Amino acid sequence: METKVWKVDPQSPDPKAIAEAAGIIRRGGLVAFPTETVYGLGANALDKNAVRKIFSAKERPAWDPLIVHICDLSMLEQLVDEVPEQFHKLAEKFVPGPLTVVLRKKPVVPDEVTAGLPTVAVRMPNHPVALALIKAAGVPIAAPSANKFGRPSPTTAEHVLQDLAGRIDGILDAGPTHVGVESTVLDLTKSPPTILRPGGVSKEALEEVLGEVEVLQKLPSEVEKGLPSPGMMPRHYAPSVPVILTDGDASELVATIDRLQRHGYSPNRIGVLAPVGWLTDIEGVVVFNWGVWGDWHELAQRLFEGLRWLERQKVDIIVAPLPPPSGLGLAIRDRLIKASGKAP
Ligand code: TXA
Ligand code: MG
Repeated sequence: METKVWKVDPQSPDPKAIAEAAGIIRRGGLVAFPTETVYGLGANALDKNAVRKIFSAKERPAWDPLIVHICDLSMLEQLVDEVPEQFHKLAEKFVPGPLTVVLRKKPVVPDEVTAGLPTVAVRMPNHPVALALIKAAGVPIAAPSANKFGRPSPTTAEHVLQDLAGRIDGILDAGPTHVGVESTVLDLTKSPPTILRPGGVSKEALEEVLGEVEVLQKLPSEVEKGLPSPGMMPRHYAPSVPVILTDGDASELVATIDRLQRHGYSPNRIGVLAPVGWLTDIEGVVVFNWGVWGDWHELAQRLFEGLRWLERQKVDIIVAPLPPPSGLGLAIRDRLIKASGKAP
């Protein structure tokens, strides 16, 4: 199939383009669209055949459930059994926004969306194009990130086309996304509420509203650093080249690059996600100017672009420093650890 691209203004998208894209969703097709986090690949969440197409376009395994995107609270009531008080408190601050909540689902939500779970993940994105699309479609839209399974998430329409051109009906192109990492997934069926995936809303910000919040510990506490291990598997968010991580300081990053060169990597095949000013003494390596260390918003925004860009430079290995595990740093860290193949 040919993938149609509608270029739209991010603040006030052309209603004709929105209507056309919404018509495709209503007829069971697939449309990629921008959110404030990353681009999503949307289908009518209440149409199981449409939802199945998402999995085949992405080559995503059926056991990985999808987030359902809504444009107002009445859509939420269509999908979930009960809206807890905690949700209303969170909504004052973070809805619409980069927060996904997991709640007990109504039978109307197909098993294809939830991978058979009794719960559904729901989010109201804070992006005029996404909200206009959902409203015009008149149905909740199931949408994972619009990348092929196992690839870094897309933060531009070009990224979506790199992975999915010819596999989806269309894409609303509104330029690069703002947040750059995916939403925080918060399970409100657990007590205390549990973060299943760190993302655009920090744990600290959630705790201000809810009190104690737990983070599901899937990650090994000690991240292996320094050199790739043999047989390392590309996993979630992984570029097609190995990623290795260093502590978050300039001398550690430089030492790791030196070590790689001693192990036979030629400098022009080493890609670096480099904070501004960290590589003044290093020559010849392929540098992606990531941003100012400490400006986690900027670093999050440019993370996936950096991974994809370095990959296109045909480097043999990518080196990146790990931010501290707080605020937005926790989400960046999580994505880098997954990209390095070290997370389960
Ligand atoms: O920012 C985002 O969240 C983007 C944009 C497009 O909204 N979407 C996104 O979707 O990242 P995806 O499919 O790539 O990630 C969804 C995550 C997965 O880790 C999935 O396991 C989890 O949400 N999830 C979905 N439904 C769930 C459920 N019922 N229970 C627990 N986790 C769930
Ligand atoms: Mg994804």
